[in-house]
Amino acid sequence: MGINLLAMGSYFPERIMTNDDYAGFLDTSDEWIRTRTGIDSRHMAGWEPVWYMGKKAAEMAIERAGISPKDIGLVIVSTVTSDFVTPSIASVLQYELGIENAAAFDLNAACSGFVYSVDTARRFLETDENIKYALVVSAEALSRIIDFEDRSTCILFGDGAAATVIERSDKMYSSFLNSDGSGARKLFAKNCQVAPIVKAESDFDDGFPEKPVHKLYQDGREVYKFAVKALPAAFSAAAEKIGITGEDIDWFVPHQANVRIIETAAKNLKIGMDKFIVTLDHHGNTSSASIPLALNEAIEKGIVKRGQKLALVGFGAGLSYGSVILEY
Ligand code: ACO
Repeated sequence: MGINLLAMGSYFPERIMTNDDYAGFLDTSDEWIRTRTGIDSRHMAGWEPVWYMGKKAAEMAIERAGISPKDIGLVIVSTVTSDFVTPSIASVLQYELGIENAAAFDLNAACSGFVYSVDTARRFLETDENIKYALVVSAEALSRIIDFEDRSTCILFGDGAAATVIERSDKMYSSFLNSDGSGARKLFAKNCQVAPIVKAESDFDDGFPEKPVHKLYQDGREVYKFAVKALPAAFSAAAEKIGITGEDIDWFVPHQANVRIIETAAKNLKIGMDKFIVTLDHHGNTSSASIPLALNEAIEKGIVKRGQKLALVGFGAGLSYGSVILEY
């Protein structure tokens, strides 16, 4: 069984951070950031909670889909920057959007979160005939967990949210999800800390580099090496399942981390960059929101059209990776 991405929506906070803004308080430059990453600017959340950004994106998707929220039977929110330890943002949105009877949960697969969520939604739709539509929302405010003193990491990230309404279809579909947990210590942000009184009594070393709670740590070089292999591997594994190759794909929509990662992966796949949707120049890396934000923008601009074959490929902390191949 395949799926149809019935409609999409997005939301960006108003505030824009340029590379020059970073050069105002960090030892960096527009030239360094652009040549090493391809990023010019990114949005940064101000007062907006992450759930609110997700709600705005979801409202747009539901309105464009022309459906009633009451017909949505599943809400999945992918995020690594939830406003809450609990409840899930999905539960908050289920109420805020007027969705009455739906399973609702958050999914954390880092920057692979959208791909994981779409594939999870498809599995629900296949096995539960009571669910007519699934809503997948990816909402992130990386600005809330980045260390603004770490110049090699903070300049990479941006904030935003995107959503899609999904229904069953008989269109082409394949997917591949995977994780290499041996890289968990290469990219992380801690959520809780041991009470100081207990820590003083213990010498347990969890093997994670020292970093304050809620601050992102990244070994950029190691993540780069992983990403340039994970992107082609994730696509190829899903493509082989249905006997297609990169030639059969109209558009690749990769996780928007760094243009050099995308260029190297494209070369490894022997696919021209003209088949890759790239929006990271003005979005930065918005973690799980990056693929749906890029896809929604390409749809709005008329670049991606109905009937075209898409490969959505994610990779990120975990280290997680995965892909979904579908017909738009
Ligand atoms: N401005 C100026 N100089 C800088 C900056 C900066 N913002 N950041 C680092 N440098 C310096 C370093 O200090 C270093 O200086 P040194 O040689 O004097 O020690 C020099 O630039 C080179 O540093 P590298 O870390 O080797 O730079 P590199 O070319 O590897 O680029 C980067 C760093 C951009 C982080 C790269 O490693 C990268 O893109 N990695 C992948 C990161 C990524 O995409 N992560 C996200 C994927 S998963 C997810 O989305 C969560």
